Amino acid sequence: MNLIFMGPPGAGKGTQAKRIAAAYDLVQLSTGDMLRRAVEEGTEVGRQAKSVMDAGEYVSDDIVVAIVSERIGQPECSKGFILDGFPRTLNQAHSLDKVLASKGLEIDHVVMIRVDDEKLIARIAGRFSCSTCDAAYHDQFNRPKHKNVCDICGGLQFSRRSDDNAEAVAVRLEVYYGQTAPLLPYYEAQKSLRTVDGMADIDVVTEQIKSAINAHGSD
Ligand code: AP5
Ligand code: MG
Ligand code: ZN
Repeated sequence: MNLIFMGPPGAGKGTQAKRIAAAYDLVQLSTGDMLRRAVEEGTEVGRQAKSVMDAGEYVSDDIVVAIVSERIGQPECSKGFILDGFPRTLNQAHSLDKVLASKGLEIDHVVMIRVDDEKLIARIAGRFSCSTCDAAYHDQFNRPKHKNVCDICGGLQFSRRSDDNAEAVAVRLEVYYGQTAPLLPYYEAQKSLRTVDGMADIDVVTEQIKSAINAHGSD
């Protein structure tokens, strides 16, 4: 089963992708995480992406399409994958269709996580993640069970993203509504769009996603 998770910044794409990937034995492919890793490692892609990401703008279609196509072709993805934060432009969606067709693959469900803007801003402002395994936490909504210890891997180091500040968040929301929201009718026309209420608690959203997937079956 291959899935796309869509939604504005802070909607819970990463949080839910990790849970659904674990439940259905899929690989999570987050373009944001891959780009942040490239920045940390100081690769050519990372050097090109850093300032764009810090400003809240989108990295070029060519770069993200290249990194996603490379991963989709690897054996780790043979049981299925979740694209978290990709595609984000119509051009990326068309490129993805071509890459999938060339490998004989299809997307079974596009899960859209819907959340109001005020809530998104509160979520992004309080977000931090485990430096070891990338698990996402929140100062109020999703604290580790034991203070300063990651629930998943026991890691003790946490970090906050350099694009989680008020100016960059405003740009990220604007870019999302301008460039990514227009993808919804595209996937609706393909009858693969499943919209869930991302305002609910994390566990409830996970159950909504599972029900949407199970209700529609998969090829
Ligand atoms: P990316 O890393 O994908 O960022 P984003 O889209 O802005 O989304 P986030 O990761 O901020 O939010 P999320 O939906 O994953 O929410 P999370 O689960 O963390 O991309 C970053 C940048 O990379 C882009 O701006 C762009 O520059 C570049 N990029 C990436 N992909 C690209 C592409 N395809 N094309 C071009 N450029 C690209 O949750 C947020 C917080 O809320 C957490 O603290 C979490 O604990 C909490 N939370 C989650 N769900 C709930 C809930 N139900 N209730 C309460 N709290 C919750
Ligand atoms: Mg994310
Ligand atoms: Zn961890």
